[in-house]
Amino acid sequence: MPRFQWKLILYFTSLCLLLLLLQGYLIDQLKWSLLASLLISLLIALPISFYISNIFTDPIQRMTEKARQLVSDRFLTEARVDQNDELRVLSKAMDEMDVQIRKKIEEISKERDYLQTILKGMAEGVLVVDSRSRILMTNEALRKFLSLSYDVTDRIPLEIIRNAALEEAIQKVIKNGTNISFELNIPISGGKTLECNVVSLPPSSKEVERGAIAVFHDITRLKELEKIRQDFVANVSHELRTPLTTIKGYAETLLEGALKEEVAFGFVQVIKRHTDRLTKIVEDLLILSKIESKKFLLQEEGISIPDLISDVMDYMREAAEKKKISIDRSGISPGLFLEADRNYLEQVFVNLIDNSIKYTQEGGKIAISAIEKNGKEIEFSIKDNGIGIPKEDLPRIFERFYRVDKGRSQELGGTGLGLSIVKHIVQAHCGRVWAESQLGEGSTFYFTLPRKQKIT
Ligand SMILES: Nc1ncnc2c1ncn2[C@@H]1O[C@H](COP(=O)(O)OP(=O)(O)OP(=O)(O)O)[C@@H](O)[C@H]1O
Ligand SMILES: [Mg+2]
Repeated sequence: MPRFQWKLILYFTSLCLLLLLLQGYLIDQLKWSLLASLLISLLIALPISFYISNIFTDPIQRMTEKARQLVSDRFLTEARVDQNDELRVLSKAMDEMDVQIRKKIEEISKERDYLQTILKGMAEGVLVVDSRSRILMTNEALRKFLSLSYDVTDRIPLEIIRNAALEEAIQKVIKNGTNISFELNIPISGGKTLECNVVSLPPSSKEVERGAIAVFHDITRLKELEKIRQDFVANVSHELRTPLTTIKGYAETLLEGALKEEVAFGFVQVIKRHTDRLTKIVEDLLILSKIESKKFLLQEEGISIPDLISDVMDYMREAAEKKKISIDRSGISPGLFLEADRNYLEQVFVNLIDNSIKYTQEGGKIAISAIEKNGKEIEFSIKDNGIGIPKEDLPRIFERFYRVDKGRSQELGGTGLGLSIVKHIVQAHCGRVWAESQLGEGSTFYFTLPRKQKIT
């Protein structure tokens, strides 16, 4: 029983006792004993005081319970008060306050959940710092960018991103409130380029100074693509300029009078050779752009591998015989079939066998094989015992216009696009392509194609 109720009981009991004693006194006048009147008074006074005290304490108790529930976040019961006085008004106000607090808590929780979902789903990294430049929060994307596995709350940004420009930008934003955007290079996972926007964070009710939010957008891939595009334009221009300059030079010499001279025939031959080269570059570029275009569709059909390679050999035989190079086809499993685009697959074999012939000395050997691997794919290989490829060049040979020995390749009419075309065709078929080589000993080019269907 609460202390308040005890006090009330005591108070009412004393009051009743006083009244009853008075009555006892009057009765005493009628010759009753004082002790008897005291006992009777007590028996009457106690239940009366208990009843009266309950009337007061019951609603207070209920309100106290409700206030406790408000704090403890339990399901709330109504603080029902039966009287029609100030306590009832207070109880009503508490019920209303309870509803409002519930509503506000629900709204805040909802907003917090939205915010957390947004931050979690963002591809951009987010870093929030307070006015002392101490980290308040980081999102998942940023922790991923920076491979952070520990809690960074309350640390300074410099501890997680060692970049003075970022630190400076955060300080400036906190001080001046102006937003700052800049690019950031961080030496993580082979180097990343991030576009960083630092904006000011309005001060909270407790703080006077503002904080800052830094948003990081990973533009590494974008930068790489930009670089590839720039390199590509520079390479194409360079590749086209050489034959064009030669053609222009020889044509001008002919026009200036050499047309009538004996050398004219030779000059026209040079012009023809360089025009062929220009045509090849343009054709190769067209093939590449076609494969890379979004509309590119493979015309897949059932193909017999031994038949397809035999057809390719018809075009290549002359070049191989010229250099007395033998081509061994015994590694091709008989009866191999697969679904692929015949024209493009032929192009892959032509480019690879052409390279093997071009980069193998006279009397060399080439071996072609095709075997089924774990029932899912077919692995092809074209092996030669030619000049080989230096280790440092090997990872780059599938790049456009990349040639180990530019002079030698150009002499042989190469544009440096052949392997790039091979790579794109194989990848369009969902296959893989790679090369192994030993300088001076030879090279082996491998590619796999998935076996979609077995045609019998
Ligand atoms: N079998 C090979 N042996 C040695 N080097 C090779 C071989 N295949 C390719 N290479 C090297 O890789 C480079 C790129 O080959 P790629 O086929 O893309 O271009 P290319 O043969 O020079 O010109 P093309 O566009 O006419 O094929 C070649 O210049 C050559 O240096
Ligand atoms: Mg080639």
